[in-house]
Amino acid sequence: MEQKISIRPSKMSDLGSLAVMLNSLVDEKAMIFVQKKVTASKISIHFENAIKDKKMAYLVLSIDKEIMGRAKITVQSGPERHIGELSIYVKKEARGKGLGERLLREIIDKAVKKFDLKIITLTVYARNKIARSLYKKIGFEKIGIFKKGISHYGAYEDVILMAKYID
Ligand SMILES: CC(C)(COP(=O)(O)OP(=O)(O)OC[C@H]1O[C@@H](n2cnc3c(N)ncnc32)[C@H](O)[C@@H]1OP(=O)(O)O)[C@@H](O)C(=O)NCCC(=O)NCCS
Repeated sequence: MEQKISIRPSKMSDLGSLAVMLNSLVDEKAMIFVQKKVTASKISIHFENAIKDKKMAYLVLSIDKEIMGRAKITVQSGPERHIGELSIYVKKEARGKGLGERLLREIIDKAVKKFDLKIITLTVYARNKIARSLYKKIGFEKIGIFKKGISHYGAYEDVILMAKYID
């Protein structure tokens, strides 16, 4: 049977599945900036902004009604309010099918239109070749490298800062 894939704004009722998805990435020791399991109530603190699209653009990837990914862009404040910071995760079983790219393109489009952003930034583990390849494809450029900028389960690793300029 054909899968029903949608990319849509998040709802409060997504919280539990979002926590499950994030915890599956923690289990696989993914190269992300969360390394401890979360609970729905812990992530709900920031979720209100996501729901209301307040200083944040937030989209979820749903496959047959199950949350399989999410992307967010957080708008910076004051003199940096033309800049949005991106973060994206896709659950392991949904990767490599073009869905991460779709989600990324949609969140950038949404955030740029909604908040009139001029620059999207992100940080990525230097050894995260898949994510770096995706970002390069979408037009992100390398701005700098922060040597030993993150501890990944006890081992220091380099992180790359990337930016995409919106024309
Ligand atoms: C990074 C991530 C979002 C990519 O999503 P995805 O759905 O797997 O990627 P897609 O299938 O849409 O592929 C888009 C591009 O990503 C890159 N890519 C995807 N799989 C790849 C692989 N196995 N090897 C190399 N590049 C790959 C390619 O540039 C690809 O474009 P192409 O198909 O034209 O070659 C996803 O792998 C993920 O969530 N990983 C774990 C969490 C993470 O690392 N998040 C980023 C933190 S900075």
